[in-house]
Amino acid sequence: MVRLVSSQELAQHNTQEDCWVIIHGKVYDLTKFLPEHPGGIKVITRWAGQDATPSFESIHPPDIVDHYLGPEVFIGEIDKSTLSVTKVESEEEKQRRAAHAKKPALDEMLNIFDFEGVAKQVLKPDAWAYYSSGADDEITLRENHNAFHRLWLRPRVMVNVTNIDMSTTFLGTKTSIPVYISATALGRLGHPEGEVVLTRASHSEGIIQMIPTLASCSFNEMINNRGRGQAQWFQLYVNKDRKVTEKLVRNAEEKGVKALFITVDAPQLGGSLFDRLFIIRGKAIRSQTSFG
Ligand SMILES: Cc1cc2nc3c(=O)[nH]c(=O)nc-3n(C[C@H](O)[C@H](O)[C@H](O)COP(=O)(O)O)c2cc1C
Repeated sequence: MVRLVSSQELAQHNTQEDCWVIIHGKVYDLTKFLPEHPGGIKVITRWAGQDATPSFESIHPPDIVDHYLGPEVFIGEIDKSTLSVTKVESEEEKQRRAAHAKKPALDEMLNIFDFEGVAKQVLKPDAWAYYSSGADDEITLRENHNAFHRLWLRPRVMVNVTNIDMSTTFLGTKTSIPVYISATALGRLGHPEGEVVLTRASHSEGIIQMIPTLASCSFNEMINNRGRGQAQWFQLYVNKDRKVTEKLVRNAEEKGVKALFITVDAPQLGGSLFDRLFIIRGKAIRSQTSFG
């Protein structure tokens, strides 16, 4: 029988040395796992003795704890009758809800900067920080931006443009335009459904989606939402434990993924990528972003 844990008992395990949290109604003891958490210790300990679900689900797929941690971390289920249910909406949340309600229609958005302007108002600060920032001093981010300004398209005039076909192939797969969706982690920070919205959109637009290893949806969710004949690629971080990597690759192959992209430029996370995300959660001051 599953043990019921009261909120009073949970609240006593609220330190780094004794850290219990609720995730989706289940109580876990994450004390031993803390040093191994890729995002650092603090992001978990700040929820010690509390419900970590809202923070957890914007980053991780739902099955990740049961998948990667042993059954010994599971303590029991939270006794819901002992939880207080009042949640007051903060001024910041109210403003975001209002900005959401008056978001421009998609066909009123003309370029990437229009999307950035809206995203800054409707996303939570941590999500905006994560999506908008680059590593460390953001010199490469600025240079990427400048590089596009040095490229010019030469218009060809006096050409019949009644029927335009911009389709091409990438690695043998047809794509309606020469663009694909690159791997970007933590999709639920931007949309409650996470990366599956990109799976559906890439199918309806006839482009290719690269599935990220660190997605906030599970790999299977993105596979199961695939449309008929839709091609997907898989981005891979190579794990120190090569068996883990082998399992991921074999599984991707079995599920019909068409290409593998190994990320080789992230032996160490760039300062800011996760730092900013978690600093914001701790309410410290946000460093500047280039275009924000
Ligand atoms: C918010 C964000 C998250 C990203 N997450 C990943 C990731 O999980 N794995 C990966 O290999 N690359 C990741 N990237 C890199 C992108 O896939 C892409 O290679 C990079 O942003 C360069 O393309 P761009 O110049 O169009 O931004 C991420 C980039 C951004 C901006």
